[in-house]
Amino acid sequence: MYKFVMPEVIFGKGSIYQAGEGCARLGAQRVLIVSDEGVISAGWTDIVKKSCLDAGLSVSLFSGLSMNPTCEEVVACTEQYIQDECDAVLGVGGGSALDVAKAAALLSTNGGHIRDYEGVDHITKPLPPLVMVTTTAGSGSDVSQFSIILDQERKKKMTIVSKSLVPDISIVDPTVLSTKSARLTASTGLDVLTHAIESYVSIASNPLTDVHAKNAIQLCANYLRPSVASPDHHHAKEQMAIASLHAGLAFSNAILGAVHAIAHSIGGHYPFLHGDINAVMLPHVMKFNAIAAPEKFQVIANLLGENTSGLSYQEASDRAISHVERLAIDIGAPLTLTGMGFKESSIPIISKISLEDACMITNPREISEDEVSRLLYQAL
Ligand SMILES: [Fe+2]
Repeated sequence: MYKFVMPEVIFGKGSIYQAGEGCARLGAQRVLIVSDEGVISAGWTDIVKKSCLDAGLSVSLFSGLSMNPTCEEVVACTEQYIQDECDAVLGVGGGSALDVAKAAALLSTNGGHIRDYEGVDHITKPLPPLVMVTTTAGSGSDVSQFSIILDQERKKKMTIVSKSLVPDISIVDPTVLSTKSARLTASTGLDVLTHAIESYVSIASNPLTDVHAKNAIQLCANYLRPSVASPDHHHAKEQMAIASLHAGLAFSNAILGAVHAIAHSIGGHYPFLHGDINAVMLPHVMKFNAIAAPEKFQVIANLLGENTSGLSYQEASDRAISHVERLAIDIGAPLTLTGMGFKESSIPIISKISLEDACMITNPREISEDEVSRLLYQAL
């Protein structure tokens, strides 16, 4: 039995102008827009706001967000939603804004503390209408049933998974990606590739998710480099937006693996870009996981453009791994944890917390705390 959930997707240039009409169609009258300062400065939030006003809606704007959003930010956002008597949530931004938008929508009807919903399927009451406009095409939050929130007290990024968090409408406008820096394009692009590879080899993968994961891997191989190379390469940006969408649909339904479990744990202790941590950990985890899904690693190598005819599964897996390493070098991603500022002394606590992350459940190879530590030492 397979289950596959996804929102209504509106994709294409100019689709950002549909945000207000989308909220109106869902019955909204007063919308809480959740966005960050960078996206506001780029002018995208104003476009969304105007589209709401044009659709006859009133709006309230919440922008108190950090790069790795916290429980306190979710509470502040929820309080504004309730105080301003909103009836729909519209996220405009990267993963941080969209995750807070979802978490605030969750608390607005379910109450309690965001910690109460950590893990899989703890949401019991319906959420208000949720519309998401992604500005990074990386996190996949605009289509996924995930929200990732930092619990500063426990120094832990919580993974909240529930079908209730799947937005009603996801708007992907490739035009919006033109203001993204090369640095962020590289980081979010490698997050997309990690989503695709982890969901493809996940033990919860199925034919419905594989289609999306495979498409995303191939698109990343073909378009991530040109997308980083030039902000004006519109075709590459559009293809990476499609890759992000495919990868988001794949991982939302097949979940992820050890790279993300480790990335969430490191992200609870260090203010690194999520995609950068994935970029460093991905080849190490691929090496560890390869024996668990040899046929799939051969397919990954082929999708990345490697010729694997006449090669053993082991040799094909090695090609896939070295391709991923080369891609990270080509686009200037960080290559070691130490280079990012990670301290070796954090390894025991990071290893312990990684094992508790919901993403570890679907990793294709069973993994112990010692093995996570070994991967972290290799990545130093
Ligand atoms: Fe991710």
